[in-house]
Amino acid sequence: MAALPRVLVSYATAAGSTAGIAERIADALRTAGCDAVCRPADPDLDLAGFDALVLGSAVHDMAWLPSAVTVLHRAVASGCGPVWCFSVGAVNPRGRFTRYLARKEAERVERQFPAGFTAREHRVYGGVLDMRHVPLRGRLFYRLTGARAGDHRDWPAIEAWASNVGTQADLHAAGDRSTAVSPVHTTDGHAGICLPMQSAVEHDPPRCGRRRRRPRAAVGVLAAGSVYALLVRPRLLRCGASDDELQSPFPGAAIVPGGVRTATMAVTINAPTSRVWPWLVQMGTDRGGWYSWDLLDNFGCRSADRIHPEWQEVDLGDRFTGKPDGSESWQVAALEPERFLALRMSLDLRGRQFDPAGRRPRRYTDSTWGFLLTELPGRRTRLLVSGYWALRPRGLQHLVSVAVLEPAHWVMQTRQFANLKRRAQAPAGRAEPEAPAGHACIAATPRPPRSAGRRA
Ligand SMILES: Cc1cc2nc3c(=O)[nH]c(=O)nc-3n(C[C@H](O)[C@H](O)[C@H](O)COP(=O)(O)O)c2cc1C
Repeated sequence: MAALPRVLVSYATAAGSTAGIAERIADALRTAGCDAVCRPADPDLDLAGFDALVLGSAVHDMAWLPSAVTVLHRAVASGCGPVWCFSVGAVNPRGRFTRYLARKEAERVERQFPAGFTAREHRVYGGVLDMRHVPLRGRLFYRLTGARAGDHRDWPAIEAWASNVGTQADLHAAGDRSTAVSPVHTTDGHAGICLPMQSAVEHDPPRCGRRRRRPRAAVGVLAAGSVYALLVRPRLLRCGASDDELQSPFPGAAIVPGGVRTATMAVTINAPTSRVWPWLVQMGTDRGGWYSWDLLDNFGCRSADRIHPEWQEVDLGDRFTGKPDGSESWQVAALEPERFLALRMSLDLRGRQFDPAGRRPRRYTDSTWGFLLTELPGRRTRLLVSGYWALRPRGLQHLVSVAVLEPAHWVMQTRQFANLKRRAQAPAGRAEPEAPAGHACIAATPRPPRSAGRRA
């Protein structure tokens, strides 16, 4: 009977998720007809007698853990058979952006490989991301790129890859040729057992040698970024909203397929919903404006300071113009008088509107901006503003959201709240005109600036 090819699966881990992947690879190799043995990358690991090596490591700071690097150098120096490598990082490289990151990470890791050595393949898989073990700068990076804590191991992909490795013809030919096979020491005499993870746990080595000096500016940016991500951003995203309001579902989730919930902001207005609603339904650049920073979103035209009866009739599908030339507009996507209004904007990434009922373009932004009114005792209104947003390419969504949209939305929304409150609380639906931050130009058509869509 032909000898089974002997494959050593070895791994370096800090928290155990790479060990789990290695064990699964060894199982799949066995199913594919190999005699696979799974071992942590210990310094005294016996490498003799194997036809092939599958070696993996957790990635820390864009590098393999040292023990895996050592095993690889030893294996290559001893003229081992073919080697397959896998790296286990923070995210499962599924999307375009994460695949790009994984490619960069693999390139960095391969710089640790012995000169002249080429792995048969080098795969990058997601592992288990536990933010408690990740240093601050890493947490910041993951927050900015949208990586979430949790188990990202893609078992079907890992198993498929391992089976493919296990069925490669030259591996089996090597198995047939094997003669003197030095047994691998196992505690129970069975091939393929894995030592307990505890013995395989490894921690980052102490850094030695000269550290590169970081420019002060980079440290400052990092510090500012950390403060923003950890302290400021969580507050922006829930400005004025209670825990209950944050956690309870917001209407309109079905309007934008694949949309994620955006910031939830709230304000209490000392006027009943019947006094707030008319201001909302007359929004639009060609009508009452947006009651925010007129210079930024209303082309310098002052938002209305009275209720206009002629703009009170609104229907589903009506458009609230976002640009005076009509090239951008919010469409009324949900309407429940004095209760809920959802405006939807659907644009391709060149800023052209598309029909949300038809086929979406390849790259687009599709979002709702929702206003939920609740009547409170004492003729007051709780106004909750939130929505849903889908951006493609998906990999950009979190970055664009954190870097641009969230702060911009906060600036505009809080201003709108203040102005709406002032207007709705004014007697007889007429607010005192503000100090002139813009000029009155309703229905005028000033020249549009290059960009006006502040909300996605
Ligand atoms: C200190 C530290 C640094 C890390 N650096 C990276 C990194 O540079 N790139 C990456 O993709 N993941 C990084 N991670 C995430 C780990 O690679 C990931 O959580 C992996 O699943 C850990 O594998 P393990 O459970 O086998 O230790 C880091 C995790 C820690 C704790």
